Amino acid sequence: MTAEPIEPVSPRKLRPVALVTGPTSGLGAGYARHLAARGYDLVLVARNELKLRSLADDLRLGFGADSEIIAADLATQQGRDLVIDRLGRGVEFLVNNAGFGTSGEFWTAPTELLQAQLDVNVTAVMQLTRAALPSMVAAAKGTVVNVASVAGLLAGRGSTYSASKAYVVSFSEGLSGGLAGTGVQVQALCPGFIRTEFHERAGIEMSTIPRFMWLNVEQVVHASMSDLSKGKVISVPGAQYKLLTAVGTKIPKSAVRKLTNVVGRGRGRT
Ligand SMILES: NC(=O)c1ccc[n+]([C@@H]2O[C@H](COP(=O)([O-])OP(=O)(O)OC[C@H]3O[C@@H](n4cnc5c(N)ncnc54)[C@H](OP(=O)(O)O)[C@@H]3O)[C@@H](O)[C@H]2O)c1
Repeated sequence: MTAEPIEPVSPRKLRPVALVTGPTSGLGAGYARHLAARGYDLVLVARNELKLRSLADDLRLGFGADSEIIAADLATQQGRDLVIDRLGRGVEFLVNNAGFGTSGEFWTAPTELLQAQLDVNVTAVMQLTRAALPSMVAAAKGTVVNVASVAGLLAGRGSTYSASKAYVVSFSEGLSGGLAGTGVQVQALCPGFIRTEFHERAGIEMSTIPRFMWLNVEQVVHASMSDLSKGKVISVPGAQYKLLTAVGTKIPKSAVRKLTNVVGRGRGRT
C-alpha cells in the first residue's frame, strides 16, 4: 500500500509578517501596501482604529494579506507596550514610521506636546527596535526601517523635530555596525518634503515650497526598498535631496543653518 501524499503546507501560512507604525496615512500607508503586494501579512499600529480596519480590508481585498490591528498611542508607555508585546512574538520586517512635527515656537509650545513628539519620534523607535531584534537576530534574518528625515541630516531652525530625527539617524547608523554579520539590516530613511497629511496635521504652511522639492509616497517607498537591496544604511530619496545632503555635509555648519532656514522654512516650527 502506498503512503498517503503529504499535504503541502499552505503558502498562506508561509507569508512573512511586517509591522508598520503609522499606516493610517501618508508614508506608512505606502509601506503597508508595498509590503502587502510583496507577500507580507501586516501588523498595523496607529491610534485611529477605524482607519486601521479600513486599511486591513483594503490589504485583504487588494493583495490577499491578513492584518492584525493594534490601536495604540505610541506617545504612551501603555501603547508602546502593546506593540512591544507583539514584536516579542517575532516579525520579519519593522517599519518605525509614525511621527509628527509641530508648528509654533519652541518656547511657547506646550511641554506635553513636545514630550509626546519625543516619545513617538524617538522613544517608540528605540523601544520597538529593541523588542523586534532578538527574534530577527535568532533567525539571522530581518529588516528594520526607521523613518528619519533630511532634517535629521541637516539641522535647521526647527529644534525638537530635527533633533528627534538626528537621533533616529545616529541610532540606526550605530546599530548597523552592531548588526553586521547577523543577517539583520537596519536603514534610516531620510526623505525631504513628501505629499502627506504631515504638514497639515502640524499646522505648517507649505504653499511657497517649489514643486520640485516635493516627493510622493510611492517614490519614497521605492527608494527605501531599492536602497535596502543595495545594503545602504542611509537612504535619501530623490536627486534634489541627494544633492542637498551631499553639499550640506561638505560646507560649514553655519552655511548649512542658513541654507536650511531658506529651503526648510525653519521659522514657525519646533
Ligand atoms: N511628510 C513629510 O514631508 C516628511 C518628511 C520627512 C520625514 N517624514 C516622516 O515620515 C513619517 C510619516 O509621516 P507622514 O508624512 O506619512 O505623516 P502623516 O500623513 O501625518 O502620517 C503620520 C502617521 O503617524 C501616526 N501617528 C502619529 N502620532 C501617533 C501616535 N501618537 N501613536 C501612533 N501613531 C501615530 C498617524 O496615525 P494616527 O493619527 O491614526 O495615530 C499616521 O498614520 C514621520 O515619521 C515623519 O516625521 C515626513
